[in-house]
Amino acid sequence: MASKNTFLCFILALHIFGNFKLNIIETLPIESYADNFGIILDAGSSSTKIRIYSWTYGPENVPAFIEEFYKKFSPGISDLDVHSKEIEIYLREIISIIEQELDIIPERWATIPIYFMATAGMRLLDEDTTGAIMTSVNQVLSDVDINPFMFEEGNARILSGEEEALFAWLTVNYFNNYFASTSSLDDSLGLVEIGGGSAQIAFIPEDPIYAGKMPATIAGREYGVYCHSFLSFGATLIAERIAEHLIRENPHAHTINNPCMLKGDERNGTLNDKIISMVGGGNASLCESVLRHFLSPADPDMCSPKPCTIGQVYQPPVKDRKFFTFGLTYYLAKDFATITGDDSLTWQGLRESAIEYCGKNYSDVVDTLGISPKFASRNCQDGLYVPMLLSALGIDYDNVIVGKQIQGQSVKSWSVGAMLYEEERLRYLVFSGNQV
Ligand SMILES: *[C@@H]1O[C@H](CO)[C@@H](O)[C@H](O)[C@H]1NC(C)=O
Ligand SMILES: *[C@@H]1O[C@H](CO)[C@@H](O)[C@H](O)[C@H]1NC(C)=O
Ligand SMILES: *[C@@H]1O[C@H](CO)[C@@H](O)[C@H](O)[C@H]1NC(C)=O
Repeated sequence: MASKNTFLCFILALHIFGNFKLNIIETLPIESYADNFGIILDAGSSSTKIRIYSWTYGPENVPAFIEEFYKKFSPGISDLDVHSKEIEIYLREIISIIEQELDIIPERWATIPIYFMATAGMRLLDEDTTGAIMTSVNQVLSDVDINPFMFEEGNARILSGEEEALFAWLTVNYFNNYFASTSSLDDSLGLVEIGGGSAQIAFIPEDPIYAGKMPATIAGREYGVYCHSFLSFGATLIAERIAEHLIRENPHAHTINNPCMLKGDERNGTLNDKIISMVGGGNASLCESVLRHFLSPADPDMCSPKPCTIGQVYQPPVKDRKFFTFGLTYYLAKDFATITGDDSLTWQGLRESAIEYCGKNYSDVVDTLGISPKFASRNCQDGLYVPMLLSALGIDYDNVIVGKQIQGQSVKSWSVGAMLYEEERLRYLVFSGNQV
C-alpha cells in the first residue's frame, strides 16, 4: 500500500516540476477498500429506480461500472403516507429485493454503500412533507436491523438541481471516456437536459467560473464544472406557464387562443371555478413570441456577475464546447425525423420543421401521421422551445449532439454519474483518513 509519505512526495514533485492544467492527487490502491459494489436508489415522482453497480479499476484508476441490476419500483415515495409505517414497509421491500439480487455473502453487505437520492418531484412538494419523508427515510435506512448495507449521514438526500446537472454531466463524460484518458479539458462534453419540470446545463468553460461551480474529483483530477438548473423550464411546466401567461393577458375570456397548440386541438381547464377553454391557434411566430417572455436575458444592469443567459442567471460563455443532450430532446428529434422523413435533422432544421408542423391540423397529425394525441400539440411547442432554449444558452446548433447512447452505452439517467461521484468521494475520504 502506498504510504502517506510517498503521497506527499508525489504532490510536492508535482508542485515543483509539474506544469499541469489539472490538479492531480494520487488515489488509494484498489485492494485496500470496499467491495466494489454500490447501490443507488433514484427516487423519482412515480417510482424509485433501484440500481446496483459493481466496478473494477481500469489502468488509469478510473472505475469501470457494470449495472448489475435494475428495477423500477412503484409507486414513488412521495405517494406514501408519511404518518404511517408505509415508508418503512416500502424501504424494507426494496432492501429485500436487493438482498435477493446481490451475489455477495451477507457478511460483506456492510461494506456496500447505499444511497437514496430524490429529485425534481420531491423538490416540488412543500417543505413539511419533504422534511417528514426524508426524516423517515433516514431513520429506516440507519436502522441496521432493517438495512444491512453501509449507510451514513448524507447518503439519503434531495439532490439540488445543480447536483443533478453535475451527475448527468459526469454520466455523459464517463461514457465518453473523458476521465479514462489523458484528455485535455477541451475534450469534455457539455450537457443540456430538458426534463418535464426543469432544464439543466453543465459544462467546463474556458473562462473562470464566478458562480455555480460544482467541483468533482475523478481519479485524482479535479474538475470545476459550471452547473445550473432552471426550475420550471422543463417542457411540461413551460406548457403550463404559457397557458397562465395567456390567461393573464385575457383575464375575462372563457375561450383562449393558444398559438402553441395545433388548430383543431382544444383543452378545457378550470381556474378559480371558471371553465377556461384553450383552443389551438397553430401560429409558430406568435408562439415564439410568447416563449421569448420566459427566455430573454435581464437588462445588463440587473445582471451580476456577467454575462447572463436567461433572466438574471449568470453563465460563463459556452464558446465552441460540444453539448450532448438526451431524454426529451432525443424523443422530439426522433418524432420530427418520422414526421419529415429526415433522421439527420439539424437543430436549425428542427425549428423550420416545427414551424411547418405548427401550421398543421390536430386531427390530421393524429390520424395521418400517427402522432399520439398527448404529443400532437406538444411537438409544436417543444419543437419551437428547444431550439430557442439552446440559443438562449448560447449553444450553437452545430455543436449539439442528440442521442440515446454514447460509445454504445445507453444514457438513461444521471445515476452512473452519481455512483462515480460517491465512489470517488468515498475512496478519497478513506485515503485521507477522514473516515474509518
Ligand atoms: C382538420 O382537418 C379535418 C380533415 O381534413 C377537417 O375536417 C377539419 O375541419 C380540420 N379542422 C381545422 C380546424 O382546420
Ligand atoms: C370544453 O368546454 C366547452 C364548453 O363547455 C364544450 O363545448 C367543449 O366540448 C369542451 N371541450 C372538450 C375538449 O372537453
Ligand atoms: C400569426 O399571427 C399573426 C398576428 O396575428 C399574423 O399576422 C400571421 O399571419 C399569423 N400566421 C399564421 C401562419 O397564421
